[in-house]
Amino acid sequence: MTTIIPGSSSQALAAAVADELEATLTVPTYSRFSDGETLAAVPGFDDSEAVIVAATASNDAHIELLQLQDAAREAGAETITTVIPYLGYARQDKAFKRGQPISVRAMAKAISTATDRVLLVEPHEPAVAEFFSVPTEPLEAAALLAEPLSGLSDPLFVAPDEGAIELATTTRDAYGEGAVDYFEKTRDYDTGEIELTPSDAPVEGRDVVVVDDIIATGGTMSGAISVLDRRGAGNIYAVCVHPVLAESALTKLSAAGVESVIGTDTLETAVSEVSVAPAVAAKLDQQ
Ligand code: R5P
Repeated sequence: MTTIIPGSSSQALAAAVADELEATLTVPTYSRFSDGETLAAVPGFDDSEAVIVAATASNDAHIELLQLQDAAREAGAETITTVIPYLGYARQDKAFKRGQPISVRAMAKAISTATDRVLLVEPHEPAVAEFFSVPTEPLEAAALLAEPLSGLSDPLFVAPDEGAIELATTTRDAYGEGAVDYFEKTRDYDTGEIELTPSDAPVEGRDVVVVDDIIATGGTMSGAISVLDRRGAGNIYAVCVHPVLAESALTKLSAAGVESVIGTDTLETAVSEVSVAPAVAAKLDQQ
């Protein structure tokens, strides 16, 4: 038997994974004390095998995950698998300046202490798996982004930076036709400002799908969309695995001229059209 334990921000995804696996879904409690400390618990958990499904998009979510792991162990779980649909801090994978931490390594060490294995959905860099001290596997999700796309005219799949070329290619392959191109991006780490240098691929009248792993502030995606729009592209779609959608990201994308924004349910938002649940369940089934 397996029991699925949802993190508070992954409740729909955890339920869908439980459904796929025909596993038990336990109902945790998530509370907060008046001093701000959180307490996540699994009062109804009674199994030897736990699968925790919890995105760690905020500091509280990281603490909550550690508490759920510990609570499951305390309640008798012999094996704990931790599925992290969206791994927060994954972009802090280097000390970019002297004196900075490698934040994702610190998170990975903490998460590793109370689990037997980890599944990471499309982490920003697959190499991040090496920071965990238990068996850790990345799960690719870019192919799923093609699911809602249909009837594109002479499609072009664009990566807004070189790091997303593989994602754009995977999405194009899953769609079945179209070319792939990319922009060059430089980011000023002091101001956060980005500069995008587009390629000279012809875009006039073509439907363009801009593919990235994350839309956070929307700066990268809206920058790419503005350029494509100015160059006379047809419909422009912004697709990503992780719709973080911080601040005014959605408004930036609309103002830039996007036709629609498509994300997955690694983060449960208004644009989470595509579910990673079947892929997560299939991976858990194999292990
Ligand atoms: C960067 O390498 C990532 O792949 C994304 O392009 C980036 O994190 C998106 O962030 P934002 O939406 O804030 O530009």
